[in-house]
Amino acid sequence: MNVTVQGESHRLLTGSPYVAYSYAYPHKTAYRSLPRPLPLREVWQTEAQDALFLYLHVPFCEYRCGFCNLFTLSQPKAPLTQRYLDAVRSEATTIANTLDKARYVRLALGGGTPTFLSSTELEQLFLIVRDVGGAKPGKIPVSCEASPATLDAEKLAILREYGVDRLSLGIQSFDERDAQAMGRPLRATDVKRTRELLSEQRFPVLNLDLIYGGSTQTKATWLESVDEAIDWTAEEIYLYPLYVRPLTGLAKGKPWDDHRLALYRAGRDRLLEKGYTQVSMRMFQRRSTLETGPTYCCQDDGMVGLGCGARSYTRSLHYSREYAVRSSNVAGIVSDYLERSKADFTHVKHGFVLDIDEQQRRMLIISLLQATGLQRTHYKRRFQSDVLEDFRQLLGLADCGMAEINSERIQLTPAGLERSDAIGPWLYSESVRQLSEGFQWR
Ligand SMILES: C[S@@+](CC[C@H](N)C(=O)[O-])C[C@H]1O[C@@H](n2cnc3c(N)ncnc32)[C@H](O)[C@@H]1O
Ligand code: SF4
Repeated sequence: MNVTVQGESHRLLTGSPYVAYSYAYPHKTAYRSLPRPLPLREVWQTEAQDALFLYLHVPFCEYRCGFCNLFTLSQPKAPLTQRYLDAVRSEATTIANTLDKARYVRLALGGGTPTFLSSTELEQLFLIVRDVGGAKPGKIPVSCEASPATLDAEKLAILREYGVDRLSLGIQSFDERDAQAMGRPLRATDVKRTRELLSEQRFPVLNLDLIYGGSTQTKATWLESVDEAIDWTAEEIYLYPLYVRPLTGLAKGKPWDDHRLALYRAGRDRLLEKGYTQVSMRMFQRRSTLETGPTYCCQDDGMVGLGCGARSYTRSLHYSREYAVRSSNVAGIVSDYLERSKADFTHVKHGFVLDIDEQQRRMLIISLLQATGLQRTHYKRRFQSDVLEDFRQLLGLADCGMAEINSERIQLTPAGLERSDAIGPWLYSESVRQLSEGFQWR
C-alpha cells in the first residue's frame, strides 16, 4: 500500500465526518456561467430520452428554517406564486417542443415546499406537468415534498388524485424545543393534525425527514423523535445530520461532530432494531416496503429540471439557474426566471461540463455512498475500465476498515457509511473542489 494513499484515507477516520452532503455530484456551487449559451436541443440531442426523470422545483416555503441552504423564498405574495406557475408553463412548453421524444418514468415535486401552494395552484401544477410537460402522473411513481404547516385535507386529496404515491414530510424533530433551537419554527399542533389527516388519506410510501445535532437535542429527545417516526409506520425515514448555513457563520468543531456522530449511531441502531434497512447514511426503509413498494432511487443521468432552482442532468452536462441562499438574491434569480418566461427558455447558460473523469467520479460517489455499494461490472460496462485502476485511493478505504472490496463490489462498512459525508468530498476532483471552495455564498 502506497504510504500517501494510506495516510490520506486514515485522515478520513480522524477528521470531521461532516464535510458535505454529496447527494449530487458536483454540487451547484461548482456550476458557473458556460462559455456560450447552449441551445437546449443541442444539449439533449445525443441523449437517450426514453426513461427520463422529471423534477419540478417549487422555491417557496411557509418560513425560512435557520439551517436551510436550499433554493427557496419564504412567504411569497400570491401574485408571485401565480406568475411562477405561468413561467413554469412557458418553460414546460419549450421543453416539450425541444425534447419531443421525451418519455418520463418518474416525477418528483420538490423545493422548497410544493405544498406551500394553494390547492388550486397545486392542481394547476399537475395539469402543466401532464398536459404541457407530457409526464403521466398516475401511471408513473410520483413523489412530493411537504411540511406539516402547509398541508390540509384538500391538498392531500389533490396529491392522491394526481398520482402522488410517495409523500415526503419534513418533520426535523417532533420536539418543539429541539426543532426551534435548530431554527425550525415547528408547531406540535400542525404535526398532530397532519398525522390525523394522513390516517384518513393514506399514501403507499410515507417518508419522514428528521435532523440530529441541534444544541438542545439529547440522546433521549432524539430517540423520542425517531420512535415517534416509527410509530407513524413511515415506510421511509431519513436521518439528516444538521449542517448550518454558511452565511450564518456558525462553526462548532469537534464537540459538535462527536454529538452528531453519537446521535447518528443511536438513531441508526434504533431503526435497525425496529426492522428498518439502511439504504445509505441518511435513508432507512421499512423492510416490507423494500419488497413491495416502488423504489425511488435517483437515476444516474437523464433528469429534466423544471422551474427555477431545478437541476437538469445529461451525461456530460449538469445545469440549472444560478444558485443563492440569501433571500434578496434568491428573489432576484426568481424574478429573472419570470422575466425570461416572456422571452424564451431555449438556451442553457449556467452549469458544469462533465468530462469522462468527472462522469466516473459521479458514478463512483453516488454508488459507493449507497449501502449496497458500487457494482464493479456496472462501472466497467459503462467506462470499459476497472474502478480500482481509476481510483487507487479506494484501496485505502479498505485498509482503514471503511470499505470491503471483492471481485464484485466495493461496499462501505458501517464505519465507512457513517463517514459518507467525508468520503464523498474526498473523492471530488481537484477542479470541483476548487470551484466549490471559490463559490461566493450570497
Ligand atoms: C426540501 S426539504 C423537505 C420539505 C419541506 N421543505 C420541509 O422542510 O418540511 C428537504 C430536507 O432536507 C433536510 N435539510 C435541509 N437543510 C438541512 C440542513 N442544513 N441540515 C440538515 N438537514 C437539512 C431537511 O430534513 C428537509 O426536510
Ligand atoms: S427545510 Fe424545508 S421548510 Fe425549511 S426552509 Fe428549507 S425547504 Fe423550506
